[in-house]
Amino acid sequence: MNLKGRSISSIEDLSKEDFENLFLFADKLSDNPKDALELCKGKILGVLFFEPSTRTRLSFESAMLRLGGKTIGFSDGENTSTKKGEIISDTIKTIENYCDIVVMRHWIEGAAKMASELSSVPIINGGDGKHEHPTQTLVDLYTMHREFGDISKLEVCLVGDLKYGRTAHSLAHGLSLFGSKIKLFSPKELSFPDELKGMLKNRFNGNFEEKASLDECLDTDIIYMTRLQKERFANLYEYEKVKNVVVLNYDKIKNRKAKIMHPLPRVNELDYDIDDSEKALYFKQMKYSVPIRMALIASMLGVDL
Ligand code: NCD
Repeated sequence: MNLKGRSISSIEDLSKEDFENLFLFADKLSDNPKDALELCKGKILGVLFFEPSTRTRLSFESAMLRLGGKTIGFSDGENTSTKKGEIISDTIKTIENYCDIVVMRHWIEGAAKMASELSSVPIINGGDGKHEHPTQTLVDLYTMHREFGDISKLEVCLVGDLKYGRTAHSLAHGLSLFGSKIKLFSPKELSFPDELKGMLKNRFNGNFEEKASLDECLDTDIIYMTRLQKERFANLYEYEKVKNVVVLNYDKIKNRKAKIMHPLPRVNELDYDIDDSEKALYFKQMKYSVPIRMALIASMLGVDL
């Protein structure tokens, strides 16, 4: 694997082999926490979050601390010179002097890609608008690998806001690398973008199906739920119309095959009554997010156990 010095602005920056190597590395790091603590001593992760986050930002920070490194950054662009009118390129030109690697989240699609072209230190895309969220896919695929083993044998149904949901966009790409079967279900106003369907058709021989109801997805291996991205709707009336269309509860799935994943946060699409059942994998996703992000940071910094 050679991720050293590379930026990850899109899921397309990672190959199937990169994923598999990162899974092995994450397993090793989980098994050797003391040795892991030596790996990134003296290194600094810059954490630039211009959009809200709980899990992504804190798991990246935790990952760097568990590698023995340190973090600097902000969780709200409003408290930075962006508020005074500074453009991203100047922010990047600044932060590259202060740290060895950067994770950034921004509402503009392509912001991380642009940053990676300007920056002398590697950039990780922690989510860019409605476009992509490659490291959530890393977390999701690592969870599937840990919980099911062979990702290529899985049938996964992506459900919810497939139009604006960046986690679903990146995950579809990621699953296509492994050859898993993909099903898609969303309210019709929020369907998977045509250009991404085209990508799946070309790269994946059309190994996906669009479903007309959630009931048709209940016997897949995994239902990957996503919330409706209220903040990305141009018109809130449109949001109100569809906000209760997709709702999953324990009753619906208790006698069915599917386990449930969700990148979180949830709004009302995923009932709390699933939480304590063996169906819920979404808390495990959070647990696995730290070792897999440790593996990513260490690999991009060129260190190994
Ligand atoms: C997601 C995101 O920010 O795209 N959350 C996450 O990173 N775990 C999902 C979302 O906001 O709906």
